[in-house]
Parts: sequence; structure tokens; C-alpha cells
Amino acid sequence: MVFRLFIRFFVSLFIAVFLTACALSVWQAGREEKRLKSEIERRSFDLTEDISQKVRPFLAKGDMQGAEDLIHSVPLTDDFLRVELYDPQGMRLAVSEHENTDLPKVPATIQNTTKDLIREDSWTSRFFSESKNFLHVCAMPVASESGTYVLCLYQNASSVSEEVRKIWMQHFLRLLIQTSVLLVITPLVIYLNVKRPMNRIAEWTKQIRMGQNPDSLPKKHGKIFEPLADEITKMARSLEVARFSAEEEARLRLSMEPVWTAERLKAFARRRLKERPFFVVSNREPYTHIRKGKDIQCQVPASGLVTALEPVLKACGGIWIAQATGDADKETADPQGRIMVPPDEPQYVLKRVWIDKETEMGYYFGFSNEGLWPLCHVAHTRPIFRESDWENYMKANRIFADALLEEMEGTEEPFVWVQDYHFALLPKMIKAKRPDARVAIFWHIPWTNPESFGICPWQRELLEGMLGADIIGFHTQYHCNNFMETVDRVLEARLDYERFTVNREGQTTLVKPFPISIAFNGGDENKASNSPAIDAILKNYGIQTEYIGVGVDRLDYTKGILERFRGVEMFLDKNPEYVGKFTFVELGAPTRTLIPRYQDFMVELLRECDRINARWKIKNWKPILFLEKHHSHEEIFPFYKAAKLCLVTSLHDGMNLVAKEFVSSRNDEQGVLILSQFTGAARELADSLVINPYDIGQTADSIRRAIEMPADEQRARMKRMRRTLREWNVYRWAADVIHDMTEIRPGAFV
Ligand code: G6P
Repeated sequence: MVFRLFIRFFVSLFIAVFLTACALSVWQAGREEKRLKSEIERRSFDLTEDISQKVRPFLAKGDMQGAEDLIHSVPLTDDFLRVELYDPQGMRLAVSEHENTDLPKVPATIQNTTKDLIREDSWTSRFFSESKNFLHVCAMPVASESGTYVLCLYQNASSVSEEVRKIWMQHFLRLLIQTSVLLVITPLVIYLNVKRPMNRIAEWTKQIRMGQNPDSLPKKHGKIFEPLADEITKMARSLEVARFSAEEEARLRLSMEPVWTAERLKAFARRRLKERPFFVVSNREPYTHIRKGKDIQCQVPASGLVTALEPVLKACGGIWIAQATGDADKETADPQGRIMVPPDEPQYVLKRVWIDKETEMGYYFGFSNEGLWPLCHVAHTRPIFRESDWENYMKANRIFADALLEEMEGTEEPFVWVQDYHFALLPKMIKAKRPDARVAIFWHIPWTNPESFGICPWQRELLEGMLGADIIGFHTQYHCNNFMETVDRVLEARLDYERFTVNREGQTTLVKPFPISIAFNGGDENKASNSPAIDAILKNYGIQTEYIGVGVDRLDYTKGILERFRGVEMFLDKNPEYVGKFTFVELGAPTRTLIPRYQDFMVELLRECDRINARWKIKNWKPILFLEKHHSHEEIFPFYKAAKLCLVTSLHDGMNLVAKEFVSSRNDEQGVLILSQFTGAARELADSLVINPYDIGQTADSIRRAIEMPADEQRARMKRMRRTLREWNVYRWAADVIHDMTEIRPGAFV
């Protein structure tokens, strides 16, 4: 096999080298021949011209003897072989020939042909080949009163053919050397660049087939096989997930445990939805295409919503409509803005919707994130409500409703699942045009109490918009209660607290908690027998430490990051023995950076981080490593796995999926989750160390407790949390929503 490759490689190279060498030889020999010939011609011309000047006076006087003597006296040196003088009648008057016997004689055959050259007007020249000799003759007319005489000069031109022969020889020798080098180099190149990496990748693939995690294996297969290795890694991950699902299914059958997997959700959705299409609408798109220099990069944005919905869409298929935000989004989608995703393994359609800058400023940055976001989160940032933002919010909702209605054309009883606070008006807009559609809206953030919500000038319109849906989902019962109370205060509607429904203008809406989750797969895709070494993770940051804690957030003021930093500071104040031993790593993705509150927050965060680091840092160590950029899942996971603890200190959070992802990643059943009591996740993950993030002392004590927690206790806690996540995963969440949506009878009640 390799020999055949070598032969193919060698023969192609040889043909290429041979043809190039021939072409070069022909060109160089031709050029040299031309140069030498013109040199010979020039020398002939000079000498004949000289002789003709000297002989002309004798001919003018009719002194033939003088002319003849002159011809005999011409010094024939080196290559000049013979001189002849012809009279106007073409009779030879005089001839002089070289006496050197080593030099070729001019044969009579050539002398006869020379006569053809004789012309009266100008000089002529010709090259002849004659029995191994190469000769040149030049004929020059010498005008006199008695007519035109002709001088002929013969020159030995063998040097031309000799030079040309040498050039061919040189090229032949060079070809010989090149061929020998090729004979040695080709197998070496094939071995080093193909055979050896191929053996390595085969060995690597074998180890993966035998259950090793691709990420934990050293990558020694070289650049050439990187795309192949990437594909194999992806395949291995898919296989791992499938294997996990199959194991879960089997376990499920044996234990009758209600665990949901992607496969089970797929089958369930198929059965429930039948052929009816499934539409999801959100502001944030799951894949953004961004220009980086000449390349286009595909990014998964930092968003809990995306983390949760992506596996659902992958399992169920459908169309996800979202705002286009990447600068290369247009060219990567078709003219209708559609693109199949995930890019590596297309499973559903992403339909991108473009909105103009002004509308986006008002709708997204303004009303959604300066108004509704602080309104719903109790984080003590004052909401800003501007009339123009509200108008743009309505406009954007209308744009998305139109895009959705267009996509839904020709479908019957479609399922529409609206996401989050960006689209409170969408359910009503859709129902007005498509009463046959089943519409649900899921509110990914908290719903505050009626007093707080009451400050929103457009609370009535928001509630009416949402109540166009058949189902309104929140993460917790508490948020459902707040919502019902808000409706009760603001609208005239029939509220049924037994079934938790709102009935208004003939539309019944079920209000229900659906605690969102993640695609728990046991962390197997990141399986590594040992946690990654801290030194390896931190080697680029010049930090040496014994333990790390990790925080992963969008850099949002609701996440309690300042409080977290202060918690780390107080931990060191209280436990100085950990100086040089514990570093907290914050992986923070910048977010909503056009909003002044977020800009101020960033400044404050950096200042606080610098202050604390300046206070404590020593050589090769500092207490806080703040990595401020968007990190991919692949970049985040090694930190999760190496961390002693994960700090989730949100001041208020609908759910917080970082907490769940940390637990999911810890298939070693080690590590401690420190979790704010103000997150939805705290209700499910009771085995975390639950804290009040405003209580800095408590955070500091929890850090110490986490670091010093015995391995058995860590294991017991992790085990229980992982069991909860296995059972309450995102597939179950989606299945619950799909179940309730398909149970709805329009006009009737659930
Ligand atoms: C929260 C919201 C999501 C949003 C995410 C990221 O989780 O509930 O709807 O996508 O934050 O925020 P961004 O503004 O970047 O979409």
C-alpha cells in the first residue's frame, strides 16, 4: 500500500522534474547557441570588413597581384580557416588557407555552395554541418569600378555544437542527481508526513473506540490529519452521547425510572406533534457567524436559553426563528435567512431575522434590557422606561410575528414556542392571525411581585400580549404566583387558582412552572480519568496554585460577581494560610456592552478585581484571575473539572444553568457547588452550599468549607445532585411543555 503510494508519488515527481529539466535545457541550449552564433558572425564580419578595406585599393587600380598577395598575407589564426576572393564573374582570384593540420579543412562541397551566398548588395552568412564539423562562412561584396568582387571567410564553428552538447550533459547530470535525491527523499517524506501520522491517528482512533475520551489523549497526529481528528472527535462524542442514552434507556427499562433522553424526547415529540411543525422564537440565535480577519467563525453565544433549547431542537427538529446578530450571518444563510444547524451535524433550521439598528436599540438594548430585565430581577438597578423604546419593542415584536406567520403559511395547527421577555406581545399577535396555532411562552427570567411590576407604564399591554398564549411557563411556582397576582391587580380576568389558569376574552391560559435544565449526559463527553492538572490550565497566566474555584457568567450585574470577588477577599482575610494556595478564576463573557449600566459595571468589576489582587498578590500567584472574553463550552469544561468549587452568587436568577453544568461535568463526583439562594436552581440543587450572596462572610466561610470538605461528603452531595439532574433534565422539561401544548383544546380548557 505504502509502496504503491511511493511509486505513484515518485513517478509523478519524476515526470514533473524530467519535463521541467527538458524544457529548461531546450531553452538554455537554444539561447546559448544563438549567442555563440552571433558572436561568430560578428567576428567574421569584422575581419571581412577589415580585409575588404585593405583589398579595395588594389582592385580599384586593377592590381590583381597586389590583391592576391594581400589575401595570402591575411593572418589566419585560431578558428579562421580560409579566405577567398572572387572576381565579378564569380571566378576565384585568390585563396588562403590555414596551415594547422589539426583544424578542419573546408570541404569542396561547402566551397561550391558558398557561391549561392554571393550577393552584390550586402554581406551574407551561413552555418554548415559537414562530416562532424560545424563551419561558418561569411560573404562580403567589395565594389570597384570594374565590378563587384566578393570576399569569403570560413570560420570553424565547432565551439557552438560543443557548448550545446555541454549544456545538455550538465542538465542530464542534474536530472540524475535530482532523481537520486527524489528516490531518497520521497519515502522519507511519505513516512514522516503520511505513514507515521497515519499510524498515530489509527492508534488514537483505536483508543477512542475502546472508550477513551478524545480530549484526554495527547494529539500527536500532526496538522495534516487535524480535520480528520476533529471529525473523529465529534463522532466519538455523538457515539458517547448515544451510548449514554442507550445505557439510560436500558437502566430505565430495568428500574422503571422516569429518565428522559434525546431519543425518548424525539419519539415522544413525533408521537405528540405528529406531522405538525414546531416553531421556536427567541431573540438570541443559537449560532452566530462572526468575521475574524479573513475567516468566518461560528460562535455559540453565552446564553442559558441557548444552552437549554439547543438540545431540544436537536432532538425534535423544527424551525428556530431568532435575531441575526453576527456580521457574517447574512452570507452564511440562504436569501430567506435560513441555515441548517448545528453546522457540523445539521438537524434543524435556524431562520434569521434582521432588524434595523434603531429598532434594535429601542427594542433590545432599551425596553428589553434597560426596562424589563432590571424590572424582573431584584438586583437594585432602576429600570428605565422610554416611550420610544416601547414603540420599538412593539415594532420588533411585529417584525418577528410577521416572519413567523410567513413561515407558518400552509401549515395546520402549528406549535409555536415563544421564548423570554423580548417577545411578551408575540403570543397575542400570533393568535389574532392564527387561532389554530398552539402557543406557549416561556419566561426565562424571574417574575417579580405585583408592586414592583406595577411601575412599568405598559404592564397592561405586556400582560395582554402574554395572555394570548395557551401556556405561560416560569421556572418556579413562586414566579407563577407572582404572575397570577399581577394579572389579578392589572386586568379584568377570571383566575382559577385550582388549575392555575387565567381566562380572559374567551382565551384560557395555563400558568405553570417548568424548571429548565440541561442535557445531562453524565459528563461523559468530558470523561477523563483524572481532572486536568491546574498547572496545565493556568500555565499561560503565570499562576501557580494548589486549588482553584471557578465562576462562569455573562458579565451582568445580576450575577453577583462583585459580591463574589469580595467573598474571595474576605476568605483570604479570614484564612491567610490560603494565600498562594487558592485562586478564583472568573470566566466572564462581555454582554449588552452598549448599555451604560453594563459599562459601569465592567469598570467597577475590573477596579475591584485589581484592588483585591494588588492587596494579596505574591510572586506567581494572585487571588483572582479574571478572564474577560467569550469562552466556548470546550474552553470552560477543563476549569469545571479542575475546580475545587464553583461559585454561583446571582443576586436574582430565573434558574442559572451554570450551576447545573458544573454538576453535570463532575463525573468524578468531586467538587462543591456554592449556590445563591436567589436562583431557581437552589430549589433543585439542595446539596450545594446554599448562600445569601449579599452576606459576604457567609460566602467566605463557604469557600473554606468547600475547599476543606472531605472527599466522601463531596461525593455524597455530588451524587445526589447528579441524580436530580439526570432525572430532571432538559428533555423532560421540553417533554412537559410539549405534553401540555398538545393537550390543549382551543376554546376548551386543559
Ligand atoms: C438570559 C435571558 C436570555 C438571553 C441571555 C443572554 O439568560 O433569559 O434570553 O439570551 O440572558 O443575554 P443576551 O442579551 O446576550 O441574549
